[in-house]
Amino acid sequence: MRLDRFLSEMGVGTRREIRDWCRRGIVTVNGATVRQTETAVSPETDTVCVDGTQICYVAQEYYMLNKPAGVVTAVTDAREKTVLDLLPTPRRKDLFPVGRLDKDTEGLLLITNDGPLCQSLLSPRRHVEKTYFARVRGRVTPEHIEQFHLGFSIGDGKLTQPAGLVILSAGEESEVLVTITEGRYHQVKRMFAAFGYRVLYLKRLSMGPLQLDPNLAVGSFRHCTAEEVFALKQVLRQAGTS
Ligand code: URA
Repeated sequence: MRLDRFLSEMGVGTRREIRDWCRRGIVTVNGATVRQTETAVSPETDTVCVDGTQICYVAQEYYMLNKPAGVVTAVTDAREKTVLDLLPTPRRKDLFPVGRLDKDTEGLLLITNDGPLCQSLLSPRRHVEKTYFARVRGRVTPEHIEQFHLGFSIGDGKLTQPAGLVILSAGEESEVLVTITEGRYHQVKRMFAAFGYRVLYLKRLSMGPLQLDPNLAVGSFRHCTAEEVFALKQVLRQAGTS
């Protein structure tokens, strides 16, 4: 791996800064000053330091973000603030969000550079459960629970997969928990729209075994714990390799 890629993936600086540090002679590999940013390094065996501080290579990273409303789920966007903009800079360049939450949806979003894990979590064959808290305009009733369980059309000619619905409170506005195993566009909103109800507030609470940390403030992130990463990978291993 090139030295500049090593350092920029670890988020220690921009490519320009890294070039500048090399020119100034403050970057060393195994104790020797390296001035060429394209120098090949081995992330596993070489000791890379910037200004005397060792930079260890971390191959995969997993962040839990409590997404706020008002930011788009994208890596970059010409006009809008993205979920990646909520992580500190400089940051590694290969991170992406797993799946998509609408701009006005809050809650759990996994951000990683682990492509295979992302693919598995999003694969329709995996039926990974996602649970949302929703506040909707209208009275949600036990009949809706039955309908969610049976499946129904949300306007694109395909029935929804069986979904869970728990009523927390019902009135002019209702509060519910919805568990779906698909990830169709605006799915939860369209499920309620099929009954003439509007979703006023939507927040994702979990994705597979990963639960939104209740201590994580809206707009904040943290590294996933080793246990959380293990659980994500474990469930996927148990489910097969598709
Ligand atoms: N369903 C929606 O309608 N929106 C989301 O952001 C996620 C699920």
